[in-house]
Amino acid sequence: MRDTQRPSITYVLASDVGQDRLGARVRFAYEGETLNDEGVVRHEDGRKEIVLRYGTPSEMTRRKLVTLVRNIVKSAKSSGEKRIILSLDDLYGRCSSRMVSDPTDLVSLVITNIEMANYEFVAYKSKPKDGWKFLEEVVFVGTVRFMDGIGHGRLVGNGVNLMRDLGNTPAFDLTPRRLAFEAELASTGLPVKFRALGVEEMQTLGMGGVLGVGVGSVNKPCFVIMEYMAGPPDEKPIVLVGKGVTFDTGGISIKPSEGMEEMKLDMLGGASVIAAIVTAARLGLKKNVVALVPAVENMPSGSAIRPGDVLTSLSGKTMEVLNTDAEGRLILADALAYAGKFYDPRLVVSVATLTGAACVALGTHASALFAADDAIAATMTLLAEESGDYVWRMPLWEEYDDEVKGAVGDVRNTGKSGRYGGAIAAAKFLEKASVITHPWAHIDMAPRMTSADGDHLAKGAAGDPVRLLVRLLERYTA
Ligand code: BES
Ligand code: MN
Ligand code: ZN
Repeated sequence: MRDTQRPSITYVLASDVGQDRLGARVRFAYEGETLNDEGVVRHEDGRKEIVLRYGTPSEMTRRKLVTLVRNIVKSAKSSGEKRIILSLDDLYGRCSSRMVSDPTDLVSLVITNIEMANYEFVAYKSKPKDGWKFLEEVVFVGTVRFMDGIGHGRLVGNGVNLMRDLGNTPAFDLTPRRLAFEAELASTGLPVKFRALGVEEMQTLGMGGVLGVGVGSVNKPCFVIMEYMAGPPDEKPIVLVGKGVTFDTGGISIKPSEGMEEMKLDMLGGASVIAAIVTAARLGLKKNVVALVPAVENMPSGSAIRPGDVLTSLSGKTMEVLNTDAEGRLILADALAYAGKFYDPRLVVSVATLTGAACVALGTHASALFAADDAIAATMTLLAEESGDYVWRMPLWEEYDDEVKGAVGDVRNTGKSGRYGGAIAAAKFLEKASVITHPWAHIDMAPRMTSADGDHLAKGAAGDPVRLLVRLLERYTA
């Protein structure tokens, strides 16, 4: 990948800072104070303040805290401030126990969101004469109780931004092999075992989905396998599976050209699981984790698969391709089957920018969550809420089984009801084609592929659901 051109932020924790300390001091507006505009205020004596409104205790939530923190960074950046001063003592005093659990939780949340808000993808831009407007230092005013969350928050934020860099990199520079290479690079120096299967190995195993989708591109497919086994040897791993379509043209069932450039982001599920396992290793979690990424480019060409073709998955099921643009489920079926065949997971989580239908269902503020097991769904929803990567559950009922029953093959890759319930049909396909028997949750992150209005995040990859995955690896017990 190209140089991100982003400096890393220095965090300082001080019990007190003098009034003359350089930088913009964050202040929450007094009750009844009239503000022309929220943001940076320059006083005549040279002091600078970032004045923002903080909600009343009853209206404040963890969700609002997230956007408030990002707003601070946004204000600082837009007026070119390099250093901000923020009192954690003050902020913590305003937080109720339903917003944050302890000082460490607050600092971590604050820093992760500072990192996310400072992010901008400028790797392909020339540096302006007066430099980029990135924040460089944050001075926290607070006692030592805030110390422990600093490293944690930064590592999580960096993980999120790694995923965004991978996504925002143009597909010409991020082919399946390059994605694998970047995954290897990110895990260098960490106790993460990296492997990537090439075409021949996938042929030997019988991964017809990945091979079929990849056969139309000159950029050959591969299958990334990362293992971080720092937990007890007898503990079953959590296996994360991420869709790695480095560019999705739709293939022979080609997409309209309008907006097609966004399909360089169709590998964000894969980037999420790579970022999550790397972050788990950086955090030194005592857990067993596996990340699997089928990486392909979906291209139309003389060698591409056609509608009507039938592919045989690693699971043994035959998959009837009715639409070559429903490619994510074809490669994920192999990857989910691989998870069951080579590991004995206590939980499998698939993450994918799988369907436009998920966006139709949910808009832009939540990913779709599928899990047959109510307890898994409830845990994931709670962790999602805490992490800031929100999800909303959709059904996987057997009433939908018929949607994906094949005529020529065992399963068909589009739902029989067409545009109705498309996200559910895709999840059903994964269930039926991979013959998954382990506890499983599926996240269709298409609604959260790019940042939404009100997120206060840069355009491009939003970073969901990396925070959720990391939290899951930290907290999941079952
Ligand atoms: N990668 C797309 C889904 C997508 C679309 C994600 C827009 C984010 C934004 C996926 O491969 C796809 O093309 N799905 C089709 C499925 C259909 C052909 C059954 C879709 O959603 O239209
Ligand atoms: Mn597609
Ligand atoms: Zn796709």
